[in-house]
Amino acid sequence: MPPLPSAHDPASPEAQARAAHTATLVARLRDDLRAARDDRSAKALARHREQGKLTAVERLDRLLDPGTPFLEVGALAAQGLYEGGVHKAGTFAGIGVIAGRECVVSSNDAMVKGGTIYPMGVKKALRMQAIAMENRLPFVSLVDSGGAYLPLQSEVFPDIDDGGRIFYNQALMSKLGIPQVTAVMGLCTAGAAYIPAMSDEVVQVRGTGAIFLGGPPLVKAATGEEVSAAELGGTEVHAVCSGVTDHVARDDAEAIRIVREIVGRLPAPARGWIDRVASEPPLHDPAELDGIVPESLAQALDPRELIARLVDGSDFLEFKALYGPTLVCGTARVHGYQVGILANHGVLFSECAQKATQFIQLCEKRRTPLLFLQNVPGFIIGRDYERAGITKHGHQMVNAVATATVPKLTVIVGGSFGAGNYAMCGRAYGPRFLWVWPNAKIGVMGAEQAAGVLISVANGQRERLGMGPMSVEEEEMIRVPVVENQAREGSAWYSTANLWDDGIIEPARTRDVLGLCLAACDRAPDPGFASAFGTFRM
Ligand code: COA
Repeated sequence: MPPLPSAHDPASPEAQARAAHTATLVARLRDDLRAARDDRSAKALARHREQGKLTAVERLDRLLDPGTPFLEVGALAAQGLYEGGVHKAGTFAGIGVIAGRECVVSSNDAMVKGGTIYPMGVKKALRMQAIAMENRLPFVSLVDSGGAYLPLQSEVFPDIDDGGRIFYNQALMSKLGIPQVTAVMGLCTAGAAYIPAMSDEVVQVRGTGAIFLGGPPLVKAATGEEVSAAELGGTEVHAVCSGVTDHVARDDAEAIRIVREIVGRLPAPARGWIDRVASEPPLHDPAELDGIVPESLAQALDPRELIARLVDGSDFLEFKALYGPTLVCGTARVHGYQVGILANHGVLFSECAQKATQFIQLCEKRRTPLLFLQNVPGFIIGRDYERAGITKHGHQMVNAVATATVPKLTVIVGGSFGAGNYAMCGRAYGPRFLWVWPNAKIGVMGAEQAAGVLISVANGQRERLGMGPMSVEEEEMIRVPVVENQAREGSAWYSTANLWDDGIIEPARTRDVLGLCLAACDRAPDPGFASAFGTFRM
């Protein structure tokens, strides 16, 4: 195929305005990422140094192979939540390379409230376990945690997706044969004690590492017994008496060296199955994406301009180009991996949903991973469309997306509204990874539409009471808070703080992030294809 053409002119005033807007968002993102990584109190740092501990960042730097990429997940989780300053929801986490092997890595940051687990910390831990389970990656934990963040204990404790689920998952991961290696580098108190206890192999640092179900303050309160952390759960207890610990290290550096030795001796991962050839760069420069990302959702965005800058050689075989043109489907390669791409170019009509359903069936049979580029205002609505079956056709697409067994990746590159979020593989549809661009907007519907619905409902109530419609001022009293709220809650930053996604990424880095995700997907065996039917032409 000839490479995708591009109508983009980087020197045009429109492209320059878009590039300046994207640059502002990217600068904010970089600032926030730096703060989330580095802003810690002098008191907390001094406490670490006094105990001879490395910081969470220093531990990660030593754990990962030098010069290898680290795909951080949830880098801005919990930003702006709680009392503020709960950076990364208390844990550095991502996919990194240890002794040549891709692993899920999780490292508590004891400089954030003693490494205690906030509700968002539980959510992040469960997300990292899901990544390990779906992609069959070994899980390495560096634990240094005071257990549950007690003021919010009711939100981290008893429900199906609360703290207990972490240890439940550890048992499942063990059954699935996913190696779990844990280094105890500070306190592992209460729930956190189960992380080493449920792991395959445990390294404990002499002096600072301790494991106990109830820490010294709790033991004193419960029984009156006065006992030090070392006497209660140090290496003398767990390496010599209880047998919880398998390896003793004299300090953090040695513990990390032992973890790397253990990972280096794990059995080799399964061979990849996703169709792959040598990678080649796109013909069109990914850096140009900054000048293509619109300043607002009202501006047009042809997804082929994105695809041309994401895929190898800008080579794209479009499927049913003339049918349902507001959804672009086709096959391409990203870093050599074959993918089937679905990208919005406007509202989803019945034809789009049917085209998507047929295309997903083809990808499923051919074992081609799916990449969704979401920029979707939703499905078309109205009397004629309902009569023509938009709900039924939407169901076909949603059904195909939900039940496809090939790996699915989603990037929200613009708007993500209504059932469009679902049909384009939003978080609830099980994409292996979901990333957002800094310009992304997410919501049930647009702010003005939501305000319009509420105003119309209120006017309906007034009519039933024999009152006239609201004045412009009364309508504004409804409209303004809805619009303000949605501006905040619909932003990429709110999404990422709440872990609705795996992180905000720079448009120009998207291709490389997708390459790392596909490499991770390729670590799990092919889940296989099972259908009683052939492909239905739509
Ligand atoms: N819940 C809420 N906050 C906690 C906490 C908990 N379980 N444990 C510690 N914190 C807070 C402290 O109040 C302190 O907050 P501040 O920085 O605003 O003053 C911060 O975490 C650091 O604690 P500190 O004791 O100063 O640091 P440390 O490095 O000496 O010790 C711990 C950290 C976690 C080892 C220690 O605080 C501890 O043992 N906590 C109790 C653990 C426990 O029994 N948990 C039971 C959970 S079920």
